[in-house]
Amino acid sequence: MEKRHNKSVLITGCSSGIGLCVAQGLAERGYDVIATARKEEDVATLKSSGLKSFRLDLSDEKSIAAAVSATLDTAGGEIYALFNNGAYGLPGAVEDLSIEAMRDQFEVNVFGTMALTNMVIPVMRNQGYGRIIQNSSVLGFAALPFRGAYNASKFALEGFSDTLRLELKGSGIYVSIIEPGPITSEFRKNAYGAFKRYIDPTNSAHKSKYMQIEKRLRDLDRVDSFTLPPEAVLGKVIRALESRRPKIRYYVTFPTHLLGFLRRVLPFAALDRILQKG
Ligand SMILES: NC(=O)c1ccc[n+]([C@@H]2O[C@H](COP(=O)([O-])OP(=O)(O)OC[C@H]3O[C@@H](n4cnc5c(N)ncnc54)[C@H](OP(=O)(O)O)[C@@H]3O)[C@@H](O)[C@H]2O)c1
Repeated sequence: MEKRHNKSVLITGCSSGIGLCVAQGLAERGYDVIATARKEEDVATLKSSGLKSFRLDLSDEKSIAAAVSATLDTAGGEIYALFNNGAYGLPGAVEDLSIEAMRDQFEVNVFGTMALTNMVIPVMRNQGYGRIIQNSSVLGFAALPFRGAYNASKFALEGFSDTLRLELKGSGIYVSIIEPGPITSEFRKNAYGAFKRYIDPTNSAHKSKYMQIEKRLRDLDRVDSFTLPPEAVLGKVIRALESRRPKIRYYVTFPTHLLGFLRRVLPFAALDRILQKG
């Protein structure tokens, strides 16, 4: 691929899926990629593949601060862009979610992401430029049953990102939100891990529904309709990085476009009837 420039891009959650694909794709394009991961062994693998990598656990503020500081050291004090990608999904009915489960979901998907963003903004303000790209989800604007924790976390991400964009107007820092639908990754496997950790299906009013959910989560070979490879997200990230005026939202996949449209035109009750089918 054609080399463009060596602007630095800090990315979270690069052990697999979209983060790994975007890290590799941007490095090939000539960006100075800092591909962070939660686990030491993934940092080692990323390094051995030739990428710059540091440990960054979104649930640990010290590790976030250390990764930002290491990024500034290695990138000559500049962070051109931050791709907030790291997150996980916790399936389960709202009534079965403990506050601890909900806190953990928000710790990673919202609070850690916000803490990192707030550490990077002063760097970007000093530079007078920067791009903050949030990896949200179609579930950041459309709620599905049994996705309450994840839905709430992505709605929160969208909320603070929309506010941030308004507050950063004129600063040279742009905030874009990527809205993927189904993308091939380790997301389902990791969601099943979270489900087993936090949900007790045996004592739930939704016991029989959980049997179906578990079957779907266990089936790692199942490919949902309209699933795209992570390169589809990479393409949008490149546009958010390289457009003179990046878009506020980038939709990826047909379900995102469809639900985005239906949400604008349908009354709430009609939209509910569609979303109810999950
Ligand atoms: N795949 C989809 O269909 C889809 C659809 C819409 C939105 N998304 C969004 O896309 C992003 C990437 O997900 P993916 O699909 O690529 O799934 P994935 O393969 O499971 O990747 C998620 C990444 O987030 C990391 N992560 C989890 N907890 C973390 C923590 N505490 N600190 C730092 N990193 C952490 C994971 O690291 P570990 O390996 O250490 O757990 C992993 O690297 C997420 O924001 C997700 O919500 C995905």
